Amino acid sequence: MPVITNIDDLKRLHRRRTPRMFYDYCESGSWTEQTFRENTSDFSKLRLRQRIAVDMANRTTASTMVGQEVAMPVALAPVGLCGMQNADGEIKAARAAEKFGVPFCLSTMSICSIEDVAEHTEKPFWFQVYTLKDDDFMKRLFARAKDAKCSALVITVDLQIMGQRHKDLKNGLSAPPKFTAASIANLATKVPWGLEMLRTRRRFFGNIVGHAKGVSNPGSLAAWTAEAFDQRLDWERIREFRSWWDGPVILKGILDVEDARKAADVGADAIVVSNHGGRQLDGALSSIRMLPQIVDAVGDRIEVHFDSGIRSGQDVLKALALGAKGTMIGRAWVHGLGAMGEAGVTKALQVIHKELDTTMALIGKRDVRDLGRDVLLIPKDFSGDWA
Ligand code: GLV
Repeated sequence: MPVITNIDDLKRLHRRRTPRMFYDYCESGSWTEQTFRENTSDFSKLRLRQRIAVDMANRTTASTMVGQEVAMPVALAPVGLCGMQNADGEIKAARAAEKFGVPFCLSTMSICSIEDVAEHTEKPFWFQVYTLKDDDFMKRLFARAKDAKCSALVITVDLQIMGQRHKDLKNGLSAPPKFTAASIANLATKVPWGLEMLRTRRRFFGNIVGHAKGVSNPGSLAAWTAEAFDQRLDWERIREFRSWWDGPVILKGILDVEDARKAADVGADAIVVSNHGGRQLDGALSSIRMLPQIVDAVGDRIEVHFDSGIRSGQDVLKALALGAKGTMIGRAWVHGLGAMGEAGVTKALQVIHKELDTTMALIGKRDVRDLGRDVLLIPKDFSGDWA
């Protein structure tokens, strides 16, 4: 077993152990992948101030996100199809998160259902909502999340239509995989993955199959999304969703100051500044570049979270220093899951925690809640001068 010291190590193992179509699904952005690439490369433009002779004993990364205590302000972002990265993947990830003390957010497009995850975990998890045309399905989805005692609802507001990811189309992405000459040749090299997959009954979209009218198996994600998602989603509908849910509502996918103000106006508890990991509007600015202006505009009215581009604890620290109260990681934990199941997700969280904690020490901060822009060196043109 290789020694794992960073997220890249998990990514390499993920690639080796998981069928290509699922690894590619995780590791893709839309079209040219410019935004996907810049989400990570823009982090490296922010530099850290080294400070010395500051008492660094008794550090803490504990904080809160939407009023809930967290061991570090890092939630597992909702990611579709995780039960295809590794058998029963969402259950494994939820377990790793609850043991670590961070929120797990289950995707509408998960393989394990809300009920499955609730049955196999102790603590409440968050649930992510996509807006489908079928209104009965939507009402039942909210009721199912309530019955499962989900402690927050994350409404994704940047995907009524899917950004094109070339690799998914070329690979014929589906859950479970369809047998073609190319997929069989690739699956033949992933025997342990296949054996685990044969042992579970969870191989379809668990929140959809048997719940949405006329859907026996949505199979191809892109084709089904195009057909079933409600392109009419607007602020009125978001306000309605807000009224259907008593607990915290988090709007995920805000990348614009105007939209952030509207999110605060409809009574959301938090927003996630996000471009969906560069999977939607290619050509948009990186999420980390947009964060400061959104925090400046609405940070006193609404809790601001951040995702897209985090691959290390230093990235988490930079987002917090720019004013995010919490962060989400996506690919970083999915690499762990694809590499080693539950143990891999735990490893990803440990790696990120250690990097965050050690970096706090080296910049002279003992409490993650004290991070501010003073710990960073921010290039003058970081946010850009766009007309
Ligand atoms: C779905 O959320 C996706 O980005 O594939």
